[in-house]
Amino acid sequence: MDALRDQALGEGWRKLVADGVTATPVSLRRGPAVKVVDGPRTETVPREEWPARLEGLLAAATNVHLLAPDGDVHARRTKKGKWLVSRGKASSPTAPQQGHDRVRRHPLPADHPLFRATKISRDKERQVQHYIELLRPLQLWERERIRVVDAGCGKAYMSLALVAYGRENGTRVELVGLDSNAGVIETVRGVAETLGYDETSFEATTIADYDSSEPIDLLVSLHACDTATDDAIAAGVRFGAEAIVVAPCCHHELAAQIAQHEKDALLRHGLLLGRQADLVTDALRAAALEMLGYRVDVIEFVAAEHTAKNVMLRAERAPSQSRAARAAAEYRELRERFGVQPAIGRLLDLPVTAER
Ligand SMILES: C[S@@+](CC[C@H](N)C(=O)[O-])C[C@H]1O[C@@H](n2cnc3c(N)ncnc32)[C@H](O)[C@@H]1O
Repeated sequence: MDALRDQALGEGWRKLVADGVTATPVSLRRGPAVKVVDGPRTETVPREEWPARLEGLLAAATNVHLLAPDGDVHARRTKKGKWLVSRGKASSPTAPQQGHDRVRRHPLPADHPLFRATKISRDKERQVQHYIELLRPLQLWERERIRVVDAGCGKAYMSLALVAYGRENGTRVELVGLDSNAGVIETVRGVAETLGYDETSFEATTIADYDSSEPIDLLVSLHACDTATDDAIAAGVRFGAEAIVVAPCCHHELAAQIAQHEKDALLRHGLLLGRQADLVTDALRAAALEMLGYRVDVIEFVAAEHTAKNVMLRAERAPSQSRAARAAAEYRELRERFGVQPAIGRLLDLPVTAER
């Protein structure tokens, strides 16, 4: 048994299973760790805490299996408390994949319980994986705990996927989902309960009415209708979010304002006017976030063949005076060129130099 213990404290093993609790070495950006999965609970134990944790697991276990590329070790405790240890062929000859968060093709395994619980289509599963890939570069994942608000969460399968991804990678994602539709909130609470995600909560409220006693780290909002996306961005700023990621939905507000002005070839036709208004709205939102100290990437969220609503604004706090000044000038120029007063300006109470 001492040899098994020594091996599990060293390098090169692939998996340890102690009475159904599995432990797997992982290499996170913040250093080596061991992922421990006990039923619905997943925990990432820093490598320096692993010896004590291993002792606890072995003390409580009756059957222990250690899987390693050079051979597996099986141990069974007899009724008299004696360990019987045997060695066998390696159940998998492959070398350990410690950098699993970098080498795996998808952020979540295809058979993750999330997909069963949310009952989403294969297409949506791919979107979920892609969504995590888009959020994965955020610095926040370096932390052990992040507080995430999903504004206009609907069934929240995307943000539940962030919880799942956090559990796989050692970041506790404390998710608060908000939606004005009480029915959908009931549904998503049930899904989160099925998954055992007790670090999540859901509130039936409008985004504007939501109040948080704690700062938030990440604000996400996917396809919240019209100016609800502006409410979401404003909530992110108000609660000091390090990152704000929104994929806007329908844009009606500016189309109506632009339509009142004289039309040129770009604005004469309703369809083109609508598309211009979408671009202007999102460009103003991006500039507004830059004015407030965020670095913003405007990226494609889902492939255009799935939905026309495929723009994503991914903003991360990274204050820069020159960027803020450039953005303020662009914001003002765009506002004047199209003669619009966007919700984002009102909600964020942008400085008069930008709002005039
Ligand atoms: C198109 S659904 C998107 C749901 C989810 N984010 C997704 O991507 O699957 C928009 C959701 O936003 C909610 N919503 C719209 N305006 C809202 C507001 N001002 N406050 C809270 N929820 C809102 C709606 O009830 C709806 O569930």
